[in-house]
Amino acid sequence: MSIFGVTKGTELEKEIDKLWKGEEQGAGMYAALACLAKERGLEEVSEDLMKVAVDEARHAGLYAVLNGHANDDIFDVLKKMGPLESSGVEKLQKFAERVRELGLKEAAEQIESAALDEGRHGEILKDLVERFC
Ligand SMILES: [Fe+2]
Ligand SMILES: [Fe+2]
Repeated sequence: MSIFGVTKGTELEKEIDKLWKGEEQGAGMYAALACLAKERGLEEVSEDLMKVAVDEARHAGLYAVLNGHANDDIFDVLKKMGPLESSGVEKLQKFAERVRELGLKEAAEQIESAALDEGRHGEILKDLVERFC
């Protein structure tokens, strides 16, 4: 039996929502600490913290699913998100230019790197839709 939405409307819904939000924030917090550790040359610390961040993102997904905070038509979501991810490349590159104009070269370069990730995400989603939909 699917766990999708099984706690929605139960006495546990609010607690599950708190867990969901806490895990989402945790994922962001650990990823931020991993980013800081990396720029300080603490590679092992960074890698371990990023693994914890990924765990927390997975936990956030679990609680979101339990309370039904997701569209369970997976490929419908992927069809919508793919083009948004792909269009994020140019938007972020333009944004990185503005960051560079503030004299923040390093930050701009990292945002440009994130922009390329978005393009990759778009390709992954498109490929999944083509192969499984
Ligand atoms: Fe967790
Ligand atoms: Fe993305």
